[in-house]
Amino acid sequence: MTLRPQLQAILGDLVTHPKVQETRHHLHHNVPKHDHLMRSARWSYRIAGLLKADRRVCARAAILHDLDSRNGDWATHGWIAANVAADIGESTLVCRAIVPHMFPLGPAPKSREGWVLVIADKLASLADMGDFVAGLLSGRSLRRRDKLRESDPYYRGNRRRRPAAA
Ligand SMILES: [Fe+2]
Ligand SMILES: [Fe+2]
Repeated sequence: MTLRPQLQAILGDLVTHPKVQETRHHLHHNVPKHDHLMRSARWSYRIAGLLKADRRVCARAAILHDLDSRNGDWATHGWIAANVAADIGESTLVCRAIVPHMFPLGPAPKSREGWVLVIADKLASLADMGDFVAGLLSGRSLRRRDKLRESDPYYRGNRRRRPAAA
């Protein structure tokens, strides 16, 4: 998935970051987690413009919002991803937007940028599902899912295990 120039300018350093790159091999909503993060970033950027939120904060929060999500559950993985973002050097505004992205599971956002990410994440998740369903007939979706289960450390060698986190 490629980003348009405006988003590339905001996200260039994060797109190439190893923590983001590794998500190409992680399974999330039956698609590569990287696809989910890119879709979230696109939606976040777009919605931020509509809601007059900080586009840079929204896009950067979106591309990081599910990193290491397997280390938490539905309600807590926002904290985990926010800590990863802080380790990378992101601002408090970005981290604070990431924490409540699973609302209404977990805390409500306290910033405009947090609300943008809540909406963007839901829309991206729907698009993930649409992508998966669209590829069912050709077999593309199931082949890709099997491949991701092989490459995702969460599944590797533990195929019967099912994810606890989004
Ligand atoms: Fe999430
Ligand atoms: Fe997400």
